[in-house]
Amino acid sequence: MAEAIGVDWLRSIVMRGKGVMQTADFYSKNWGLESVEKRDDALFFRGTGSEPFIYGLREDTVYGIDFIGFGMASRERVDALHRQLSEAGVRSLDQPHELTTPGGGYGFSATDPDDRRLVFSADAVQSTPREEMAKPRKISHVVLNTPRLEEVQDFYVNVLGFRVSDFSANQMVFLRCSSLHHSIALNRNSYSSVNHVAFDMSDVDAVMRGIGRMKTLGQAPAWGPGRHGVADNPFAYFVSPSGFVIEFTSDVIDVDEATHKPQVWSRHSPEAMDVWLTAGPPTPAMRAVMAGRPDPGFPVP
Ligand SMILES: [Fe+2]
Repeated sequence: MAEAIGVDWLRSIVMRGKGVMQTADFYSKNWGLESVEKRDDALFFRGTGSEPFIYGLREDTVYGIDFIGFGMASRERVDALHRQLSEAGVRSLDQPHELTTPGGGYGFSATDPDDRRLVFSADAVQSTPREEMAKPRKISHVVLNTPRLEEVQDFYVNVLGFRVSDFSANQMVFLRCSSLHHSIALNRNSYSSVNHVAFDMSDVDAVMRGIGRMKTLGQAPAWGPGRHGVADNPFAYFVSPSGFVIEFTSDVIDVDEATHKPQVWSRHSPEAMDVWLTAGPPTPAMRAVMAGRPDPGFPVP
């Protein structure tokens, strides 16, 4: 049997919901993304990095994730991952094919145990990175709420090749697909939904300047600024006009694959949660919005 392979990096996320396309200005003017393509039913944005798009909004009747995009280093790896999913008994939603999202490429989609749609792709046309202060470069990580954390963790680890980086008590698990400490994290919840999407900034100054731009435009962080203990990353959380939680972050630590041992981080030590002690714990209102709205995903018939 061929050696197991894993996804290579986190590329993009597209959200869906009622009226989400009407929030386009918020994402370009306030959040700092660049609109790259407007379609009748969907919008796509890029960051200042090389991905042809990192974020999207698709009109739909339910609020949640349209799909999470993962990068594969080659077409051969897309085909190999497709075979690997099929051998693991995971039914893909389609066969590998030429994609029509911005940048094109070659990929396929499948669902995780919560019926979240995932797209795996290679060969998308890359853009030239730009240096622009306080504009998001790429998606840093996505945190998913799940009622079946162990099963979802097992899928990301054993079928998609993620590694466990750390745990936050018995509540969260942080998963990496590259040297970055986490690209996906899972959070125990009574139903499946999106917790938040984090956008990567060049450094802590850019995070602060991003907060400044948001404040100037009338919106203070809903939580933060602070610095998380687990991956040592500065954070500031905001709520989008559609009620999605989004985060500015930077400097998520790299993990040494050879020596890293997952730890269980306490949720009772304030400094483990909030290194600078500037943010304090999230308010009940913030926790409620991070619990998200139940997302039925895309059940395979
Ligand atoms: Fe985060």
